[in-house]
Amino acid sequence: MKILVTGGAGFIGGNFVQYMVDKYPHYDIYNLDILTYAGDLTKHSDIENKDNYYFIKADIAERENIISLFEKEKFDYVIHFAAESHVDRSITDPEIFVRTNILGTQVLLDAARQNNIKKFLHVSTDEVYGELDFEPSTFFTEETPLQPNSPYSASKASSDLLVRSYHETFGLPVNITRCSNNYGPYHFPEKLIPLTISRVLNNQKVPVYGAGNNIRDWLHVLDHCAAIDLVMHEGINGEVYNIGGHNERTNLEVVKTIINSLGKPEELIEFVQDRPGHDKRYAIDPTKLMQLGWKPKYNFETGITQTIQWYLDNKDWWEQIISGEYKEYFKKHYTLE
Ligand code: NAD
Ligand code: DAU
Repeated sequence: MKILVTGGAGFIGGNFVQYMVDKYPHYDIYNLDILTYAGDLTKHSDIENKDNYYFIKADIAERENIISLFEKEKFDYVIHFAAESHVDRSITDPEIFVRTNILGTQVLLDAARQNNIKKFLHVSTDEVYGELDFEPSTFFTEETPLQPNSPYSASKASSDLLVRSYHETFGLPVNITRCSNNYGPYHFPEKLIPLTISRVLNNQKVPVYGAGNNIRDWLHVLDHCAAIDLVMHEGINGEVYNIGGHNERTNLEVVKTIINSLGKPEELIEFVQDRPGHDKRYAIDPTKLMQLGWKPKYNFETGITQTIQWYLDNKDWWEQIISGEYKEYFKKHYTLE
């Protein structure tokens, strides 16, 4: 079985590649990634010499290369993670989001269609549904209308619709998964949780947007990987599956949990200008996926404890990132020091 994982040098794709290489030694896992600022291969040092792991450096939006790769390799499954994934970057530079997330997905769909793959699993996000009000009994279901609010989520929603259309028009076997906010090992330190951990460990201020009362529904990345594994093998073609574990927290709660676990003062919190178009609340109803047999292993307390420990144990990894291009990006966006 040949499985193409796009974006396997990034956060979730990287965890998924490691999970699959270890769990299925009889599957060949091909990690295709262009290695943007968010991709790095050092995270795969434990698997890079395994017989069932391959790396291909390529751009999903480069049509000729992708089409000839698919003709040559005859993949069975495509698990599509590759994307521009950071909302703040989509506000300052939307164009690359259109190219990678929409055009890149369409190129992959064409390649998959021409080569009779068994399934194209498109990894999407709950952000395509827009925002919920603070009313705690409302949730995103698979029937919630798409109402994206940021250029990032608009590009993801567009790609979801393309995937759907290739199923309806060409009969391509597809699934779309829409997961809530992930956290865990190898999370790039521009996103709230790794940003907070890394800055608190360096005794730096943590920028909290607005009043910090926006709510996200946090899921450990390994629970996301297990969900994708299940949908890949058992998902009904053409169906959408929401992924989430009912772990809603305000941003302020998340930041305070991290600061308190590390024994640092809450004075490190700095309220800064809000994100434009900032979605109020995300919350997933995962009933459909649970009926397929999925159950998360982590709740927020166990997951955040494991994650904080991972960042303490892997300082080299995130310090190397912070000292590179990311530092310039951060300086452009905040003036905290
Ligand atoms: P990430 O930014 O950490 O990684 C993205 C990866 O894609 C990087 O390795 C990058 O090099 C690669 N990539 C970017 N452009 C490419 C191109 N043109 N060709 C080939 N590779 C390219 O992202 P992530 O947080 O791991 O998210 C992965 C996927 O999961 C995305 O599709 C995202 O929309 C979705 N998702 C993320 C979350 C989350 O909380 N992070 C939640 C739900 C869904
Ligand atoms: O819901 C799934 C989505 O989760 C994914 O599709 C995205 O790829 C992923 O980046 C994430 O999007 P968010 O915008 O929710 O994640 P982020 O970590 O950027 O922000 C989480 C919350 O924290 C959000 O309400 C904004 C806030 N925030 C973020 C940063 C980076 C701050 O208050 N301060 C910050 O410095």
